Amino acid sequence: MIFMKTWFITGTSSGLGRVLTEKLLEQGNRVFATVRKADALKDLKERFGNNLVVEILDVTDTEAIRQVVSKAFTEFERIDVIVNNAGYALFCAAEEANDDQIRLQIDTNIVGSIQVIRAALPFLRAQGYGRILQLSSAGGQTTYPNFSFYHTTKWAVEGFCETLAQEIAPFNIGVTIVEPGAHKTSFGTAMATAPTMHVYDQTPAGDVRRAVYNGTFPINGDVNKTVQAMIDSVEIEPAPRRLALGLDAYRDMRASLISRLEALDAQKDLALASEIDN
Ligand SMILES: NC(=O)c1ccc[n+]([C@@H]2O[C@H](COP(=O)([O-])OP(=O)(O)OC[C@H]3O[C@@H](n4cnc5c(N)ncnc54)[C@H](OP(=O)(O)O)[C@@H]3O)[C@@H](O)[C@H]2O)c1
Repeated sequence: MIFMKTWFITGTSSGLGRVLTEKLLEQGNRVFATVRKADALKDLKERFGNNLVVEILDVTDTEAIRQVVSKAFTEFERIDVIVNNAGYALFCAAEEANDDQIRLQIDTNIVGSIQVIRAALPFLRAQGYGRILQLSSAGGQTTYPNFSFYHTTKWAVEGFCETLAQEIAPFNIGVTIVEPGAHKTSFGTAMATAPTMHVYDQTPAGDVRRAVYNGTFPINGDVNKTVQAMIDSVEIEPAPRRLALGLDAYRDMRASLISRLEALDAQKDLALASEIDN
């Protein structure tokens, strides 16, 4: 039997975060949702009243994270699930971005996620239970040209969560890394870009760029099914370490893992030869 839960979710103005918020409310849960645009959830607030609390939060502001997370636990007394959903992609070749763009990508997707979790941990430990859903991506285990900074952030949160999961399992807090493939949300229009260097036109980066801008980059993920899979995952004990969502996610992560495993095995002799003798 599924019981009503309380959820804290970042980045709920659009896409996966908004659909997740709406579905949870429709299914009788309570949601503490954060947004950057004050009125983004006005319609849901009118429909769901006190079961939805909306707070302004830019996840690049660590002090604000601490205040908002603390407020959420005070307001709801107990929060069962924390969802680090807020994020975006910087879409360009590595040398095209400027320094501020790189910093903002890291501050939002990596530092923002880490600080939300760190702010919540004392409360989760005190209540003796919790579940963390960290939005990564298929791009947290595989890579596509033009997304180097985005992949940097998603691979980073995967490493953080893998470690974190071992640290907090003794406190009955589970961590699930969510790895969607491509889904039609505001993700594409929200991508940050940089002035194009035409030397990349006839390279893999140029190919991906053309596919994205021509609308031929395949996007087949079903937002509703993916969000429902995230909701269902919190009923699974122990917490699944990963949720791969979408055929592209499964296919591309599998190919990436196999190729890395094959490369590791191919240099096994070298690895073993790098030991102190005897
Ligand atoms: N769609 C995909 O294909 C896909 C695939 C794999 C993983 N993901 C991941 O899924 C998550 C949700 O993305 P989405 O597809 O739903 O895209 P989306 O519709 O663009 O939603 C992104 C959300 O993040 C918020 N956000 C961005 N920067 C923020 C900041 N500094 N502080 C607080 N909120 C911020 C946005 O708020 P504003 O409206 O204020 O900008 C928006 O609510 C992201 O972590 C993304 O990396 C998406």
